[in-house]
Amino acid sequence: MDKIILRNQDIPDIGDIGVYERNGGYAALKKAITEMTPDAVTDAVKASGLKGRGGAGFPTGLKWSFLPKGVFPRYLVVNADESEPGTFKDREIMEKNPHQFIEGVIISAYAIQCNHAFIYIRGEYPVAARILEQAIETARARGYAGKNVLGTDYNLEITVHRGAGAYICGEETALLDSLEGKLGMPRVKPPFPAVVGLYGKPTVINNVETLANIPPIIEKGADWYKSVGTEKSTGPKVFCVSGHVNRPGNYEAPLGSITLRDLIFGKEYAQGVRGGKNVKGILTAGASAPMLTAQHLDTKLDYEAIAAAGSILGSASIIVLDEDTDIPWAAQKMIEFFKHESCGKCTPCREGTYWLLTLLQRVNEGKASRQDIEMLPIVTSQMYGRTLCPLGDFATSPVTGTLKWFKNEYEAKVKANGAH
Ligand SMILES: Cc1cc2nc3c(=O)[nH]c(=O)nc-3n(C[C@H](O)[C@H](O)[C@H](O)COP(=O)(O)O)c2cc1C
Ligand code: SF4
Repeated sequence: MDKIILRNQDIPDIGDIGVYERNGGYAALKKAITEMTPDAVTDAVKASGLKGRGGAGFPTGLKWSFLPKGVFPRYLVVNADESEPGTFKDREIMEKNPHQFIEGVIISAYAIQCNHAFIYIRGEYPVAARILEQAIETARARGYAGKNVLGTDYNLEITVHRGAGAYICGEETALLDSLEGKLGMPRVKPPFPAVVGLYGKPTVINNVETLANIPPIIEKGADWYKSVGTEKSTGPKVFCVSGHVNRPGNYEAPLGSITLRDLIFGKEYAQGVRGGKNVKGILTAGASAPMLTAQHLDTKLDYEAIAAAGSILGSASIIVLDEDTDIPWAAQKMIEFFKHESCGKCTPCREGTYWLLTLLQRVNEGKASRQDIEMLPIVTSQMYGRTLCPLGDFATSPVTGTLKWFKNEYEAKVKANGAH
């Protein structure tokens, strides 16, 4: 099947605006602006069933419809922070198929009646940032952005803003604070950004991949889009595969059309585990979701099936760990990440990540007792659901997920230590 999002993998040089136009590019924008009202665009996106691709999977059209009527200015902010470990899909979209994304930004901005959109891109993506700036300039020169888009009275400025490298700035309200020039820390919700967002104004925040879905929805219609994927998980998805596989990379497939086994072992996908080894652990949403195991290899890749298996599809960053992986060590690496990235605003997350790391270090250094292992779920239960933003929940996953399937490995480290 032809790719819908990673069209660059089928069409050489689609990053060039001429090539993009010759392959139908910007036709959806023309259709939206000249034939559809903003509300009709929102209705089409609602009808498509598109869910946000940034992690939470919230329905996109519904999010747009939360903006309070008649309050202006409004802003569209694109989340291009892409900091979840193992996630690199937005980078390929921005670097290799930038115009499909920019076209999605312009159509979405038109739908929500916004005249200034911001793209917040992680500081570690200077190449993508430069490519986007050039693509926006080229689009503007063709009349797709700037004053009087396509000769209409609709105006749109697009600003690319580079972050400074903080995972927490991917959380939407921390991102807004960072964009406003403040320290990036999550805000208390409510009020939600749809009501009080950037500069206190109604704001929609969407992920890069989410917006790259908008041109095909508008061009081909919601019914066509719904024919790709499953009834509840519509459309295509980009899966980022990394870890102990032969061919890491971004692979696109309709949601629910392939299993974890297909993605990890398929010839057109990651082509198996390095050295012909077995799979031990599978992370489906980077470090943020509980680990699955080889027994889940036949799980379909869609939001509902992964949730039924006990994890989260999130941004679909699939990290594969082979049979030789030391699981308590892997859990420690993930907790080091969360402790470092915790912004420290709330106590359960700030202190909890410290204590999880301390306990895991004891385990891995051979200094832990059985009580230390029993203490791990007590600490996670004091964190989960008790923090200001989801990072506190995410930080419990490496511990709860690995203890569920691999408690024996923790216990073996205690026994080796002679403790009980
Ligand atoms: C700690 C944390 C980090 C996040 N990082 C990202 C990110 O890098 N990119 C992203 O699009 N969403 C990220 N999110 C999710 C955003 O808060 C938000 O839900 C998303 O950008 C909404 O876009 P969507 O509806 O199009 O998915 C993160 C959330 C949390 C709690
Ligand atoms: S949960 Fe962690 S990252 Fe989120 S606001 Fe609290 S301290 Fe900051």
